[in-house]
Amino acid sequence: MKPLGKLRLGVNIDHVATVRNARGSQYPDPLRAAKMAEEAGADGITAHLREDRRHILDQDIQRLVDQLSVPLNFEMAATEEMQKIALLHKPHAVCIVPEKREERTTEGGLEVVKQEDHLGHFIEPLREAGSRVSIFIEPDYKQIEAASRIGVHIVELHTGTYCDLHAEGRFSKRNTELESLREMASFAHSLGLEVHAGHGLTYSCVQPIAAFPELRELNIGHFLIGEGVFRGLKSAIKEMRRLMDEARAAS
Ligand code: PXP
Repeated sequence: MKPLGKLRLGVNIDHVATVRNARGSQYPDPLRAAKMAEEAGADGITAHLREDRRHILDQDIQRLVDQLSVPLNFEMAATEEMQKIALLHKPHAVCIVPEKREERTTEGGLEVVKQEDHLGHFIEPLREAGSRVSIFIEPDYKQIEAASRIGVHIVELHTGTYCDLHAEGRFSKRNTELESLREMASFAHSLGLEVHAGHGLTYSCVQPIAAFPELRELNIGHFLIGEGVFRGLKSAIKEMRRLMDEARAAS
């Protein structure tokens, strides 16, 4: 059997900025964390510039663009303001996510079906500027088909429900969600889309996802930044890398 290809690890550094902004200080610096993540073997860095600037700030994006050696995945809502910023920086990838001011984190996937025309037009200039366009969606046939129709390069499947069910010990429901993610990864791949996944992943729930053969990238942030407090960020990232590689070697 052919061994599975390497799964890329994108490290999301948003929550280093959350801690910094809690005190309005200059530290901890998300760029320093990004550089450390590179040294630990991250294949890319993800940063989400939210409308309310609750963590990553505009100047962080500028510094990341100027100083990173690995690709930047710029997460953003489908707004004119964010489109302008993305077109200014032309990051390697843009990931379009839904955004609500009152949410604590990105709670669900983007509704693509109901705004197909709008999103199709919205991503056109981003594609033309040379960014890989990704869209963060629920594992759902109709959303994936719509994502494919509008011409994105990548779909990122939302693993939040799977991770929550795992953390709550509701394993039967967790397994149903896992199957749905597996099926949708395979379906998206069959349509020619590159498949990524992320949200809520931890050491204890990453491996069944990492073993999906069609998957090319995982984006992981909150858990790694938290774990970094206890064991150091590099060590936290290296352990995630090891678990991902182990899962792929075993399947
Ligand atoms: N992927 C996307 C599209 C996200 O919005 C987030 C959270 O910002 C992540 C991955 C990473 O999720 P977490 O921080 O829970 O690992």
